[in-house]
Amino acid sequence: MSVTEQPPADGSGAADAAQEALHDRIAADSLTTRRDYLRIVATVSGGLAIGGIGVASGILHRHGDADGAPEAKKIADQLLPGESLAFRYPEQEDRAVALRMADGTLAGYSAVCTHLACAVLWRNDRGSEGELYCPCHEGVFDARTGEVTAGPPPRALPKVLLVEEADGSIWAVGTTRSGESVQEGLCRQLGADRPDLAVRLGCPGASASAAGTRSERT
Ligand code: FES
Repeated sequence: MSVTEQPPADGSGAADAAQEALHDRIAADSLTTRRDYLRIVATVSGGLAIGGIGVASGILHRHGDADGAPEAKKIADQLLPGESLAFRYPEQEDRAVALRMADGTLAGYSAVCTHLACAVLWRNDRGSEGELYCPCHEGVFDARTGEVTAGPPPRALPKVLLVEEADGSIWAVGTTRSGESVQEGLCRQLGADRPDLAVRLGCPGASASAAGTRSERT
């Protein structure tokens, strides 16, 4: 399931319990920094569809090509249904957009059109869920998935992974390439840099022995 296909943030009882257990497990790990905590929650939420945490995705293609996970960055104190926010992530020159759909779904994308790099906007007045719209050549992207639905853009919008904290604040915590899943994006960016986290996330090729070696050094 795509992270942008998450259920509304109201969450079921089972999802709430799973989320709480996850938080407890992560908080109990003294090696886990706040940055890592955010990353883990984002990834597990995206991969396992745990409700109660709004997670979305997206990022700039050229940054998605780079190795190394970007720093987590607070982008808003809150984002209400029907609202969108332009921000920069992971670098100051990287335009991105976050949006909150009427059902509570939180989503984040690169705001750079995959056609000729014009700025992409969220048009909440279009369709039942709004759409991501590029005015240069009438390019349109699905607000829930980032996939191209009309016009000349050749690829989906890269995603920016967003996490909503308990106080309502919204954090950008990572990125994906166009067409890449949340887990694929974070596993690629974690790579050899954080094998301990890669193991926890179930990244292909991550080994517990590598994580142990790394932990011993830190
Ligand atoms: Fe976006 Fe052409 S630059 S459709």
